[in-house]
Amino acid sequence: MVCILNMVAPAKINLSIDVLGRRSDGYHQVAMVMQTIDLADLVTVSIGKTDTPIILRGGSLEAPPDTNNLVYRTAALVREQANLSIGVEIDLEKRIPVAAGLAGGSSDAAATMKAMNRLFHLGWSEEKMETLLAELGSDIPFLVRGGTALATERGEQVHILPEPPEFWVILVKPPFGVSTPQVYKALGAKSLPDPFSWTGIMTRDTVPDGTFTKKMISAIDQGSYTALIVAMGNDLEKVTLEWHPELKELKKRLIRLGCDQSLMSGSGPTILGFVEVENKARQIAEQMAEETRRSNYRVMVAGLRSSKGDV
Ligand code: C5P
Repeated sequence: MVCILNMVAPAKINLSIDVLGRRSDGYHQVAMVMQTIDLADLVTVSIGKTDTPIILRGGSLEAPPDTNNLVYRTAALVREQANLSIGVEIDLEKRIPVAAGLAGGSSDAAATMKAMNRLFHLGWSEEKMETLLAELGSDIPFLVRGGTALATERGEQVHILPEPPEFWVILVKPPFGVSTPQVYKALGAKSLPDPFSWTGIMTRDTVPDGTFTKKMISAIDQGSYTALIVAMGNDLEKVTLEWHPELKELKKRLIRLGCDQSLMSGSGPTILGFVEVENKARQIAEQMAEETRRSNYRVMVAGLRSSKGDV
């Protein structure tokens, strides 16, 4: 009998984000293309050996192993929904920066539910897990399957897309975090229609013309790296780059060092640089690390991670 599972919880990046309007429930209507990469946390989940319902160890200073941690909240949700009387023990090894626009906590949550589903033989479908996880955060459902997907509504509706052409990404994380609710609020106050009226769930065929996301889906369908680079865009940059002008400089610096494109991930502050081959990504990352050493920036390199296999 399997009683321990080692899960890989990959980070996500956004290849496009369009914020289309404010909704009456306080969220924003989005259309975005999400992609998992091979930077990942490790989540080890085992059947509990004691009477304690949930034991969570590890984490980090910014994501401590307490009851607010998304991993803890997911384990509590699974125990409640499945009426489990047996306890669960979870070890969380953080490698993805926290509050960085990379969905690290969300991915840990998805990995936790998938592991508990298997360990306790719950027989939950991916759709059921996506529905449950949407209650804990808009970007968590995507991380159940990962790979490449269009996310719509508040981000919780996931439509799988084909794999894009291969590329590599350089990630630069400044030594501060950004609050997603504050970024959305500032953007909403600036420029958006209110409330957003849309009937039915937006799919790849109904993403509005002229959006980054529409162009990105077409670039992925074509399998063209050049089209992908041209299509990229993130509406949330309008807020976060204004608040932190040094992020604009980072984007410029990545291009100067040879990246084909540069974009903020999620609500930031991580800035991404894109290139086609691994060697070039590593060279640029080395130079970037050298140039930013004194500013305490974290520089990482990652390739794509498809949806297959998570143990
Ligand atoms: O869904 P999640 O809890 O991750 O979202 C955090 C906050 O970000 C929400 O409470 C909301 O303020 C904002 N948000 C939004 N529109 C979205 C997603 C998030 O306004 N589509």
